[in-house]
Parts: sequence; structure tokens; C-alpha cells
Amino acid sequence: MNQMTNVKADRLTPMLRVDNLTHRVRLETDTLTILQGVSLEINRGESVAIVGRSGSGKTTLLGLLAGLDTPSDGTVELDGAMISQLSEDERAKLRAHRVGFVFQSFQLLPALSALENVMLPLELAGSESAEGRARELLERVGLGERLNHSPRQLSGGEQQRVAIARAFASDPSILFADEPTGNLDNRTGQSVSDLLMELNREQGTTLVMVTHDEHLAARCSRQFHIEAGVLTEPAAVEELTH
Ligand SMILES: Nc1ncnc2c1ncn2[C@@H]1O[C@H](COP(=O)(O)OP(=O)(O)OP(=O)(O)O)[C@@H](O)[C@H]1O
Ligand SMILES: [Mg+2]
Repeated sequence: MNQMTNVKADRLTPMLRVDNLTHRVRLETDTLTILQGVSLEINRGESVAIVGRSGSGKTTLLGLLAGLDTPSDGTVELDGAMISQLSEDERAKLRAHRVGFVFQSFQLLPALSALENVMLPLELAGSESAEGRARELLERVGLGERLNHSPRQLSGGEQQRVAIARAFASDPSILFADEPTGNLDNRTGQSVSDLLMELNREQGTTLVMVTHDEHLAARCSRQFHIEAGVLTEPAAVEELTH
């Protein structure tokens, strides 16, 4: 277990508590159930991997856990707030303060440079040292020489790393990452994994990530499997890694 000195809140409530989450979308002729009866609890400072085949519901689940969308049924409590019952504005506010998200498709703003993309959440939060912190984060992900590149001038892996730096900029209590090493070669993927685990260790940031990367999944304190929208937690393999 991680030591509890660096965690962001002193309450003993879990960071994330999900109860019987179900998500359906209405199609022209019928209704598609994407997630079914998902329940889980994640404590502060844990690192969690969600693995499953393409189309099994991983991105949908991550979006609901992070409050980007609301479920058809069930509840999501994030850092003590019932996000599944908040308005869109309230959810946005909560996300801005406590949640970092690395999207599968990066979602960088094309008109801004790498540096400006990372500065944006800091400026929105009223930080006075946005530029310094953004530079530091970009250097940390190995992009100190690419600060003024726009997203289209960056490779896929570089865009991925800008997205990670941006997600960490506001010092979130919980970080959701959708395939954070998905587009990276082994070596870069390894250094992004190291960075995520380091931030988890040093800052107590709770990590929830979707990954196909077995090495990264094995480094997490827990692993969940998802198949056709049903989540299971296989019996923990004792001390898989050290
Ligand atoms: N808004 C939507 N309308 C209709 N179907 C949807 C919608 N969102 C997701 N789906 C379907 O739900 C299933 C799960 O999608 P999701 O994006 O969560 O999968 P995933 O596990 O992240 O897959 P991948 O590994 O390919 O990213 C897919 O079959 C997808 O087509
Ligand atoms: Mg996905």
C-alpha cells in the first residue's frame, strides 16, 4: 500500500465509489446496453488498470467515472461528490479542480502550442506560475525542445505526452487515462509509464487507466477486466510485482 502522507484529502471515503452502473444508448430500432451492473470502489492513492477487448466499454466507463457523461442507471461518487447527480456545470467545476483526463484521441487544441495547451488549465484555475509549471511538466515528459510546436507539428507519441502533461497540470486528485501508452514505441511507452507511476507515488494521485499494455497493467495495484460491458476483478494475484 502507498503511504498516506501525500494524499490529497484526509477523509476516509474512497476516491471513487461506483454502484450498479448501467449505460444504454438508444439506437433507431432498439437499445444497446454498453455497460451493465458495474460496481467498484477505489481508494485514494491506488493505481488501477482496466483491460478488455476493443468495443468492450472501456472508454464509455472511463467517461462516466470521470463525470464527462451521466449513466442511464446507478451512481458514481467521486471524491465524496455524487457526480452522477450533478448538473453539467457542477460536473465541469468538479473536473476542473480534481480530475485529470488523458483521452484516447489526445484532444489537444490545434491552434495552441504545446506549451499553451499545458498552460491553459493552469490559467483557467488562476495560477500565476502557469508558464513555469507548464515548461517543467513538458520537460518532464521529454518535450523541452518542442514547447512552441503546434499539435500538428508533433508526432502521435509527442501529442500523447503533451496530453499527459496537461492532465497533470492542475495537480488532480485522480487521473483517468485512456490508453496512455497506446501510440508509443516501447521505450517512450516505458518512460510514460514510469512518469505515471512516479506521479502516483510522489503526489498520491489516484490512477485509473485503460490499457492494452501488459507491463503497465502489471505495475498497477489492481486490475479489472471488462467484457461486453461487465466488469470483473479477478482474484488478486499475490505480489505479482514488487
Ligand atoms: N454514443 C454511442 N452510440 C452508440 N454506440 C456506442 C456509443 N458509444 C459507444 N458505443 C458502442 O459501445 C461499445 C463500447 O464502446 P467503447 O468506446 O467504450 O469501447 P472501448 O472498450 O473503449 O473500445 P476500444 O478499445 O476500441 O477503444 C462499442 O461497441 C461502441 O460501438
Ligand atoms: Mg476506447
